[in-house]
Amino acid sequence: MANKDEVSRRQFLNYTLTGVGGFMAAGMLLPMVRFAIDPVLKEGAGQDMVAVVEESKLTQEPQRFTFKVKQKDGWYESEVTQAAWVFKDKNGEILALSPICKHLGCTVDWATNPAYPNQFFCPCHAGRYTKDGTNVKGTPPLAPLDVYKKEVKDGKLYLGQAMPQ
Ligand code: FES
Repeated sequence: MANKDEVSRRQFLNYTLTGVGGFMAAGMLLPMVRFAIDPVLKEGAGQDMVAVVEESKLTQEPQRFTFKVKQKDGWYESEVTQAAWVFKDKNGEILALSPICKHLGCTVDWATNPAYPNQFFCPCHAGRYTKDGTNVKGTPPLAPLDVYKKEVKDGKLYLGQAMPQ
């Protein structure tokens, strides 16, 4: 017959070894998991607001501005050049549109098609957008141009990420 004390000592040893082993495993694994997913979970991961142009330079005519942004893709950081078509509407509201066509991603230009002088035109498949970025029905794009997050601070226009309208 097994001694009651002996069994409980064995169990105690098992629990202790399992516990210590578990702590050691967690101590090694947690930093690895954190390293792998930290950039994804980090608040503010993505794109910061960037100063693009003096607000006083904006008119009701769309103008193309380029700006550099730091982009984080997981843990990979890079600097990319982005462009925006920026203008003020009749009420003085600033609109900053992405030039990336919503059909297949070509670059749209303002007023380059003589037949439609007040529209954005995509040369790839003759896609068209009205001044506020709305896609013209009957042309290939099926969605409006993305709009940049914007902020005016100390007389300067800052742009952030482009979002679907
Ligand atoms: S990519 Fe612009 S119309 Fe096709």
